[in-house]
Amino acid sequence: MTKENIENSSEVNEVSHSNIFPQWVNILPRIILLAITGLVVFVVYLFWYWFTPQNFNVGYEPEQPIPYSHRLHVGQLGLDCRYCHTEVENAAHANIPPVETCMNCHEQIKTDSPHIQKLTEHYENDEPIEWVNVHVLPDHAYFDHSRHVNAGVGCVDCHGRVDQMEVVWQTEPLSMGWCLECHRNPEPNLRPREFVTQMDWETDESREDLGKKLRAQYHLNPREDCSACHR
Ligand code: HEC
Ligand code: HEC
Ligand code: HEC
Ligand code: HEC
Ligand code: HEC
Repeated sequence: MTKENIENSSEVNEVSHSNIFPQWVNILPRIILLAITGLVVFVVYLFWYWFTPQNFNVGYEPEQPIPYSHRLHVGQLGLDCRYCHTEVENAAHANIPPVETCMNCHEQIKTDSPHIQKLTEHYENDEPIEWVNVHVLPDHAYFDHSRHVNAGVGCVDCHGRVDQMEVVWQTEPLSMGWCLECHRNPEPNLRPREFVTQMDWETDESREDLGKKLRAQYHLNPREDCSACHR
């Protein structure tokens, strides 16, 4: 409620205690005004609710407990996604690496940085870092990374240029329509399996033609029936 609304409503109370009939008529326009204000606030709230990233999801970029940068570690240092996300080819979920993986380097590198000191503290106390999830499907939808990665769908097609992100954010809606759009016509999104983690991979061939060949070669037939994703 805005300050103005609160003032208005206290006035309504005062007025309704005194001489009722003529006063009521006097404040009728105010009640209408109040109702309209309320409606406008409600509509604005709805728009705000639906179009903020957390609810619309595309663009969702939560703050992380340690400012780990994919742009630095992948884009500049050239680490492969699978150095950290080791399960992405074998499991439904892509794991987030444990602190040990970071300490392979940070036992030596940048130990004077307060962020690395915090990292080391987690390591020494055997406390996992509470990374905030960026991509989250509702429980009623089933997704499997290994199926997609082994089918030659690149990380970049679903997560965007992670190698250029200081902080990971969601680039695709992850809606049912988005899933189905590719399941109906996967060809333009297929690449040879060995390039799934290469963010800047390109080919001279038309993606459509290459996709047709790969689809046949890998025997792909993405499902559109409800039970594929709702189990
Ligand atoms: C040095 C380790 C490391 C490497 C290499 C790495 N990541 Fe990550 N990744 C992390 C960590 C740690 C997080 C969790 C913190 C965050 O979200 O930034 C993460 C988070 C993510 C997320 C968001 C997960 C979520 O919560 O939804 C995506 C997507 C992702 N990585 C994709 C990639 C891709 C694609 C590559 C390769 C191009 C890659 N990562 C390489 C360590 C790594
Ligand atoms: C076909 C689309 C697609 C591809 C390809 C894909 N991802 Fe994902 N990724 C998703 C979706 C959808 C989620 C959210 C899954 C959930 O909430 O269950 C996700 C979540 C993640 C997460 C968070 C942990 C998790 O499993 O929920 C990480 C890390 C990640 N992806 C990394 C990668 C990496 C690295 C690659 C490439 C090797 C990759 N992804 C390829 C769609 C994809
Ligand atoms: C292959 C080695 C390697 C791995 C593995 C690695 N890093 Fe790094 N990291 C580096 C290098 C190199 C730098 C840049 C140091 C510099 O700026 O001189 C760096 C910088 C950083 C910084 C910035 C520090 C600062 O204050 O400037 C943070 C934070 C960081 N890494 C976190 C992590 C986390 C978290 C992980 C594990 C998920 C991780 N790193 C894994 C090599 C690595
Ligand atoms: C960019 C293309 C693309 C996107 C986006 C995509 N998929 Fe897929 N999906 C595929 C391909 C290709 C396969 C492999 C089909 C095969 O192995 O025959 C597949 C397979 C699957 C399978 C395995 C089905 C089975 O045969 O058991 C599931 C489940 C699935 N996808 C769910 C999802 C969900 C949920 C989303 C959205 C969050 C999604 N997919 C988004 C391309 C995609
Ligand atoms: C390729 C995967 C896939 C297939 C096939 C699929 N769905 Fe979905 N469905 C999803 C995903 C992912 C979501 C969650 C979307 C979101 O949260 O925005 C979803 C959400 C839903 C919802 C909830 C809507 C909501 O607003 O949360 C219903 C109902 C639904 N699906 C019904 C169906 C029916 C019926 C079929 C068969 C005709 C079907 N789905 C086939 C992936 C799929």
